[in-house]
Amino acid sequence: MRVLHVAAEAFPAVKTGGLADVVSALPAAMSALGTESTLLLPGYPAVLDSGRSWHALAQWGPALGAAKVTLLRGEVPGIDLPVWAVDAPWFYRRSGGPYHNPQGEDWPDNAQRFALLGWVAAQITVDDGLGQNSSFDLVHAHDWHAALTCAYLALRQSDQVPSVFTVHNLAYQGLFPYQDHALLGLPSQWMTPAGMEFHGRLSFMKAGLQFANRITTVSPTYSREIASVDHGHGLDGVIRGRLPHVRGILNGIDDQVWDPSQDRFIAKNYSALQLAGKVACKQALCAEVGVPYDPQVPLLACVSRLSSQKGIDLMLASLPDWIDDGVQVVVQGSGDTALEMALRHASARYPGRFVALVGYDEARAHRILAGSDALLVPSRFEPCGLTQMYAMRYGSIPVVRRTGGLADTVIDISDGLAQGQPGTGLCFEQATAKALTSSVRRLLALFKHRAQWQQVQQRGMAMDWSWRGPAQAYQALYEETLRDPYGSLAGEDAEAGQVATSSPAKAVAKAPA
Ligand code: ADP
Ligand code: GLC
Repeated sequence: MRVLHVAAEAFPAVKTGGLADVVSALPAAMSALGTESTLLLPGYPAVLDSGRSWHALAQWGPALGAAKVTLLRGEVPGIDLPVWAVDAPWFYRRSGGPYHNPQGEDWPDNAQRFALLGWVAAQITVDDGLGQNSSFDLVHAHDWHAALTCAYLALRQSDQVPSVFTVHNLAYQGLFPYQDHALLGLPSQWMTPAGMEFHGRLSFMKAGLQFANRITTVSPTYSREIASVDHGHGLDGVIRGRLPHVRGILNGIDDQVWDPSQDRFIAKNYSALQLAGKVACKQALCAEVGVPYDPQVPLLACVSRLSSQKGIDLMLASLPDWIDDGVQVVVQGSGDTALEMALRHASARYPGRFVALVGYDEARAHRILAGSDALLVPSRFEPCGLTQMYAMRYGSIPVVRRTGGLADTVIDISDGLAQGQPGTGLCFEQATAKALTSSVRRLLALFKHRAQWQQVQQRGMAMDWSWRGPAQAYQALYEETLRDPYGSLAGEDAEAGQVATSSPAKAVAKAPA
């Protein structure tokens, strides 16, 4: 089977969050299982400059406002699979982020920039000039940036290659003015509430949800949550309409990149059986961030985008309740300016106890996970979350809100006892400062019992978060999709009827040519 993955970022070339980690690790794990995977990315300078051996496979244009579009094939260090880049200099060769200009504002032509990515993905599957290169069995699009892939594929009625669309975060939807659809070469009759219109605007996310043959999200709990009004961000009705085609597959982690026994960024390597190196990592981290090292004082960390999703404000609100109880805190994050300021303010207020590292630093994220005793992840919602899994692997005990993928990966030490299942961290239910405070208090109590603490650490370190299991689940989903692209077999007929009326994908694909 040959699968084309389509995404807007991939570690290490271009990363703003967990999407990048998943996009470079999942296809590589799929290739290891025998599914030949290729990754299609926009040709940003970070991709083209870090890559090598680029050569042109095809050229199109003008298309969607780009005078000339060249499809390049090459290799990108750290990405263990063939990378294809959409070279459209006007759209992608800019200094700034993948989504934002250097001032942090959205690029004004994001609709065209990311529509082009999807258009090229669909074009690849039919371009005769590409010969064998174009023979993909399935296309896998990630998040709203790649979502229009599914719509462009659905346009091709007779020769449609099926698509899988993964929702990494339903909160970011790719919403644009209604009239922008006219720039994208998609039928105007799709701009309805049953299609890709969302409250008078064009929604890329909704297009992905409507037109993909299968939808996945990045944890089982989140797949249930997004079908509810509370977590559906206005799209829960669309998700419910497609329930037979929705799956929650928990993300894995790249266990080569995130491995304390061979991590080249940390002060000393260690493992569950040889924890001494972790002490050296804590000493080094304390020295690096400027807090006194004290083995009796737990060092709590947080590595996060700064957005309301992540509950950083809850952490700051709960801080006064426990910061005087003999704790040190290191927070590394970037994003929302008000949260950046609030972090700086806390570090001025609690010198030597609270350190705010405002900014993005990949290597230091490794050192923080290795050197900390515990990791706080107080998210209001969390589709999957990777840092809690990294933390467990590094023997840093996660304290998480029980939501989305956090609920699926962390077993609370008390629940663990009750269910005869050993705990790996601490969980709290309510998204409140009070609930977080009570978890931190439980953590501090546990820290005093060194033997128990170490057992929790070692259990977390022994968990298998590799991509092997998730990759097998995707493999099974791909096979099912190829066998039954519209999900009409396997007893899905009743629900599929419902989907048929709400899904232009199905209506279009089944229409006579
Ligand atoms: P999300 O994708 O919602 O931001 P995840 O937990 O899935 O959350 O992934 C976040 C990824 O980004 C992790 O690899 C984490 O280490 C990294 N990360 C987040 N903020 C920073 C930062 N300020 N510096 C370095 N790495 C960061
Ligand atoms: C998103 C989510 C995060 C998830 C990541 C990778 O950014 O916010 O929870 O882990 O995607 O799927």
